[in-house]
Amino acid sequence: MSIRLGDIAPDFVAESSEGKINFHQWLGNSWGILFSHPADFTPVCTTELGTVAKLKPEFEKRNVKVIALSVDPVESHLNWIKDINETQNTTVNFPIIADPIFEVSKLYDFVHPNASDKFTVRSVVVIGPDKKVKLIITYPASTGRNFNELLRVIDSLQLTANYSVATPANWKHGEDVVVIPSIKTEDIPAKFPKGFKEIKSYLRTTPQPNI
Ligand code: BEZ
Repeated sequence: MSIRLGDIAPDFVAESSEGKINFHQWLGNSWGILFSHPADFTPVCTTELGTVAKLKPEFEKRNVKVIALSVDPVESHLNWIKDINETQNTTVNFPIIADPIFEVSKLYDFVHPNASDKFTVRSVVVIGPDKKVKLIITYPASTGRNFNELLRVIDSLQLTANYSVATPANWKHGEDVVVIPSIKTEDIPAKFPKGFKEIKSYLRTTPQPNI
């Protein structure tokens, strides 16, 4: 099954390194990041999980729960976590789903058979508090993800969910944003009291409204 932006993120029950997970119930009213891995005891994945453990306070600040998935059983995950903690100088502080028969991976389209029919690819799915899919990014097994970029995207998703703005290329929290095209220029001052610049009729910028 393939999933697309705006779909309800498929619900599931699965075993994890922290016990049974009822996914939607586990998410509660939080945002969520579900990210898949090719396999346990692989080098890039080890660095990725260590990085996410260290960034957990940043995800928490944004009300985002993180959960990993790898297609090995729980016992393997528990042994691997010891290695991650040791080699990455951290403590894995989020669950890793065990998906040995690819149940969740199939629901989320994490197997790309023309890349590999044995391993899941490195996908990230961001889910909003409404349980809808807000972002999907897929990397090959050979490329570790940039989790600072994911934090940046979460900042954009959370901002644009609440204001009639979009974020331009390479935008970072604190920088000017663009007013979405459906807002008429004459209506901008009332909506964006910090001011705006009209560079073209379709390109209007304003200071980030929520800071
Ligand atoms: C890794 O996680 O290190 C990895 C997994 C599969 C292929 C290449 C690298």
